Amino acid sequence: MWWKEASIYQIWPASFKDSNDDGVGDIQGIISKLDYVKNLGVDIIWLSPMYDSPQDDMGYDISNYEKVYPKYGDLNDMTQLIEGCHSRGMKLILDLVINHTSSEHEWFKQSRASLDNPKRDWYIWKKPKYVDGKRCPPNNWLSYFSGSAWEYDEATDEYYLHLFAKSQPDLNWENEECRNAIYNSAVKFWFEKGIDGFRIDTAGMYSKDQRFLDAPIVFPDNEYQPCKVFHQNGPRIHEFHQEMFKKVTSHYDAMTVGEVGHCSRDELIRYVGASRGEMNMMFLFDMVELGSDPLDRFRYMDFDLTDFKNTVIRQSEFIGTTDAWTTVFNENHDQARSITRFANDSPEYRVKSGKLLAMLQSCLSGTLFLYQGQEIGMTNVPKEWPIEEYKDINSINYYQELVEKHPKDSAKVKEFMKVLNLIARDNARTPVQWDSTAYAGFSGVEPWMRVNDNYKEINAASQVDDPESLYNFWSKCLANRKKFPSLIYGQIEILNLDNKDTFEFVKKTEGKDEIYVILNFSQKDVDFTPNSEWKLLITNGDNSSKLTPYEGRIYSM
Ligand code: NOJ
Repeated sequence: MWWKEASIYQIWPASFKDSNDDGVGDIQGIISKLDYVKNLGVDIIWLSPMYDSPQDDMGYDISNYEKVYPKYGDLNDMTQLIEGCHSRGMKLILDLVINHTSSEHEWFKQSRASLDNPKRDWYIWKKPKYVDGKRCPPNNWLSYFSGSAWEYDEATDEYYLHLFAKSQPDLNWENEECRNAIYNSAVKFWFEKGIDGFRIDTAGMYSKDQRFLDAPIVFPDNEYQPCKVFHQNGPRIHEFHQEMFKKVTSHYDAMTVGEVGHCSRDELIRYVGASRGEMNMMFLFDMVELGSDPLDRFRYMDFDLTDFKNTVIRQSEFIGTTDAWTTVFNENHDQARSITRFANDSPEYRVKSGKLLAMLQSCLSGTLFLYQGQEIGMTNVPKEWPIEEYKDINSINYYQELVEKHPKDSAKVKEFMKVLNLIARDNARTPVQWDSTAYAGFSGVEPWMRVNDNYKEINAASQVDDPESLYNFWSKCLANRKKFPSLIYGQIEILNLDNKDTFEFVKKTEGKDEIYVILNFSQKDVDFTPNSEWKLLITNGDNSSKLTPYEGRIYSM
C-alpha cells in the first residue's frame, strides 16, 4: 500500500503562500513551493478545503464542491497543482467536507425555499418546541461553535440543524438522493480530475440518532448540552461509509484518512479495518487534545510527561493484531503548535526541542502527517496578542459567550485568554514564515491574519541551506524512518513510564530491526550510558555521557 510508508504534508491554503499579493494564500503560491515540500522528503500533500466558500469556517463551509474559492484560484490552477505534484512523484489528497455544506450552497438555498421543495429533506429540519408559549429549538443540543445547534428559519417556521456554525447546515444522510448527489459532486468530480484521495472531515457524524432526544445535562450552568452521543457513530454510519466506498472510492487507487473523533477502540476499529471497505486510517486525538475536557476543549487542565507517554501508548496499541492501519501526527489546522504545547518554545530551546519532537514522531508507527510550518518550528502566537488578532470562529464565539455570561468577571476572561493562547486553532493559522522580509515573505501586503512576531528568527529561508536546521533535521528523520521497518510498523515498548524527565522506548518488528530511543524532555542534564554495541543513528546533541536538556538519541540495537 503506497500510503503506509508515506509522509504527508498538510497545506492550509489561506496561510501557505500568497502569489498575487492580495493578502491571502493561493494555489499558485502552493505550486511555487512544491520543490520545498518535496525536498523535505514528503510523498503526499493533503490540501485543506480550497472549494468555493464564504469562509465562515475557513473553507469547511462549502458553497460549491465543483468550484475553487476565487481568491485561491480556479479549476485550471487545481489541474496544474495535481500535475505539479504528480510530476514530482508526489500525490495529492483533498479535504472531503460532507457532513454539512455552507448555507450559501445551492442545495441549501433550495431546501430552505419552501416546505415542499424537492430538496427540503436534504437537510435536517424540525418544528419548534413550545415551552410556556415560548418558541424554542427542537432540543437542547449544543453546537461545536457555541450556542444552540439549531437555527430558526422564519420563512418556513422550522429549525435546521447545524452541529458547527449557523452557516454550516448538516446534510441529511438519511436521504438517498442527497447521498448520491454528495458522492457525485464532492467525491467523484475530484477523483475524475486526478486526485489521489481524501482526508474525510467529521467522518463519524453523518448518521444522527433519528429520535433527536434532549442530550443529558453535563454542564448545569449551560443552556445547551454536548450531544455527541446522538450524532457520533450513529446507527447507519458504517453503512454510509461502505456505500460511498463501494459506489465511488473503490473505483480509484485512492487513500482515505478519517477525522472520526472520540469513542471506544472497538467502535473506531470498525471504520478502518482493511476488510471493511470504509476508510484506510484515521486520526486519533489522544495526544493533541491532552489536557482538554473531551466535551469542551477550552476547559483545560495541565498534564505531565507520563500522561503524554500514555497517549502514545493508546495510539500505538490502537491497531493491535487487527488488519487496520493508523496515523502519527501532533499538529494540524485545528491544533496549537507542538513545540509550544509539548516541548519548549523559548529562544534557548525551541530548535532543540523541535528536533526532539521530530525524533519522537518519526519513530512512531503509522502514516506520518506534518503540518505546514511544523518543519521550521513555528510556535504559538505571542501571549500578549489581544482577542482582536484571533480570527477563528471557534475562538471568537466562545470568547463572546464567556464575556456575555460574565460581563464583570475580568479575571475569568483573563484566565480564558491564557487557555486560548495555549490551544486556539489560530495558533496553526498564522501565515507561513518564509523569510525575514516584511510579512515574513508570505505576501507583499498585510495578510488576512497577523504574522507571528518571531518570523525574523524562525523562517524557511534561514533553514533550507543550513545542515543544522530543524527543516533539515526533519528531512533526515523522515529518511531514517523509511530505512527501518520497525519505525513504521513495529510494536512499541515504553521503558520507565513514570520517569517525568525522559521518554524512553524500544521499537521492534520480529526478525527485523530493533531501535532504541531516549528523549530528554526536561531542562536538566540526565546521566546516560548507551550499550557500546548500539549504533547511533540520529541525535540533536553531542553524544557525551549525559543527555543535555531536550537532547534525544535514536540507536539501532
Ligand atoms: C473539522 C475540521 O478539521 C475543522 O477545521 C472544522 O471546523 C470542522 N471539522 C467542521 O467542518
